[in-house]
Amino acid sequence: MLTLSARTTVAELMTGPPVLYSKLKSTGIFRDGDDPEVMIGQLCWNFGLNPAILLAMLEDAMATAIVPPLDIAPYQDMDLGALVDHIEHTHHAYLREVMPKLVANTSKLAEAHADNEQLAQLRDEFHRLATELDGHIHHEEESLFAMVRDLAASTAIRATRCGDSVGGPITCMENEHAEAQRTLNKMRALTDNYAIPTTRTTRLWHDTMTELERFDRDLQEHMYKENEALFPRALEAQQGQGQEQPQAATA
Ligand SMILES: [Fe+2]
Ligand SMILES: [Fe+2]
Repeated sequence: MLTLSARTTVAELMTGPPVLYSKLKSTGIFRDGDDPEVMIGQLCWNFGLNPAILLAMLEDAMATAIVPPLDIAPYQDMDLGALVDHIEHTHHAYLREVMPKLVANTSKLAEAHADNEQLAQLRDEFHRLATELDGHIHHEEESLFAMVRDLAASTAIRATRCGDSVGGPITCMENEHAEAQRTLNKMRALTDNYAIPTTRTTRLWHDTMTELERFDRDLQEHMYKENEALFPRALEAQQGQGQEQPQAATA
């Protein structure tokens, strides 16, 4: 992953997410056709701009660009039952496989670099997130996904411990997604977007940052599919079923 500093050249910056170059051009200090071998720091000094300000702007842009926009359309067209199967088999299975490894590796990394406060905080944030996500996916499968499968089969929703309506669990899941997103933001800030340090780096450090970046990307895609496709469609299906039931009773 690209690590930005005042010594980063524009050419190097152009190898990162496209939003970086767009952000640089939006400042007006670099235009298409200018020499891309110039360093960001030099460019800023030429225009009387503090490089730290530009670097902060670029890092903000990179944080939001870490996940490319996901084309949600295929998930909006997918059968509801197939959609929950997909989420379980792809994203829940990945979390169950990777979280124990990352719990162990973030602990080992913090222990191996006991003088690094950020790694200790990263371990604590990740461990808390893993515990919360473990409960979250179990809760989804046991209650919400079971209800969605009933809706997909056009049968009455069987009551779960969360009742017999998808509205309650969806609100709960959305709140937990927002909390998970806040933790991802903290983890990115602590690791400079999962940057692998150029000095003192070890195989463990490299592997942990690489897997954390993948975890972040997967979790965002996972939550995006649920928030933008599954939840609205489940509510819509429930509403549709609720409208059909009285008609059937009248008939
Ligand atoms: Fe999920
Ligand atoms: Fe979820």
